[in-house]
Amino acid sequence: MDHLADPLLLRQHCQSWRAQGLTIALVPTMGFLHAGHLSLLDHARTLADKLVLSIFVNPTQFGPNEDLERYPRDLPRDLSLAEEHGVDLVFAPEPQAMYQPDHATWVTVPELAKGLCGAARPGHFRGVCTVVAKLFGLVRPDWAVFGQKDWQQLAIIRRMVRDLELGVTIVGRPIFREPGGLAMSSRNVYLMPQERAQAPAIRQGLELVQAAVNGGELDAARLGLMFRAYLAEKLPEARLDYVELVHPESLVPVARVGAPTLLAVAVFMGRVRLIDNILLEV
Ligand code: PAF
Repeated sequence: MDHLADPLLLRQHCQSWRAQGLTIALVPTMGFLHAGHLSLLDHARTLADKLVLSIFVNPTQFGPNEDLERYPRDLPRDLSLAEEHGVDLVFAPEPQAMYQPDHATWVTVPELAKGLCGAARPGHFRGVCTVVAKLFGLVRPDWAVFGQKDWQQLAIIRRMVRDLELGVTIVGRPIFREPGGLAMSSRNVYLMPQERAQAPAIRQGLELVQAAVNGGELDAARLGLMFRAYLAEKLPEARLDYVELVHPESLVPVARVGAPTLLAVAVFMGRVRLIDNILLEV
C-alpha cells in the first residue's frame, strides 16, 4: 500500500494506473476510521482495480465555532486498517498542500445546501463540494463511495457531479449502525457513556415514524411532531436541531409522505451533533 501526502504524486500515480487501463474507486474520508468507513472500503474494493482512500480533515467545511481543532485523528491506526481492507493508496495531505494561500475557487450547490444541516452550518457544503471536486480532479476516479448517513452531502455531491459533468459514478451505501442502532460516526467518541447509552433513541424515533406511516399516517407535520414528542420523552436533555420530511433528491420539504420521502433529523447531545435519517417506505 502506498501512502502519499503530495497531491501531484497522487495525480501521477492515478494517471499511470489509468494509462494501464485500470479502473479506480475513491473513498473520501476525514479519517478516524470506524466500521462504517470500513464497509465503504469493502464495497469500493469490489468495484474497481485500484482503491484510493483519502484522509483529510478539510478545514473549509468547518465553521468558526466548530470542532476542527479537536476533530479526532489517528493516522497510524487508519493506515493499518486501510491496509487490512485492501486499499492500494492512502492520500493524507496537509491543509497547505490542498489549499494555496490565495485559493479563490469554490463549488456551491445552494439550492440543496440551504436546508437541513446547511441551515445550521452555513458554508459547510461549499467546503465539502470544493474538496470533493479537488479530490475528483486529482484522482479522476471511476467510482466514489459515500455513506448515506450524510444524505444531504450525498445528494449535493450527486448534483454537483451531474451539473459539472464530472464523470464519476457516485455510490451511496447504507448507514452502518452500532449494536443499539446509533448511526456510526467519528464524532460518537465525544459522547459521554450515558449519552451513548441513550442515543439509540434517535433511531427508535425514526422507526416509530415509519410504523405510523405503515399505519396510514401520511401527514408530514404530524409525523414530524411525533418524532419531536418521542425525543422529548426519551432524551429530555437532547436538543433537536431539525426534523424534516423531504424529497430525497431535491431535498424540498414535502407536506405528505409519498414514495419516496426522506425523514432526516439532527440532534444535539451535549456538544455533539448527531444526524440520522430513514427513507420512509409507504
Ligand atoms: O463525509 C466526510 O467525511 C467529508 O465531508 C468528506 C466527504 C470526506 C469531505 O471532506
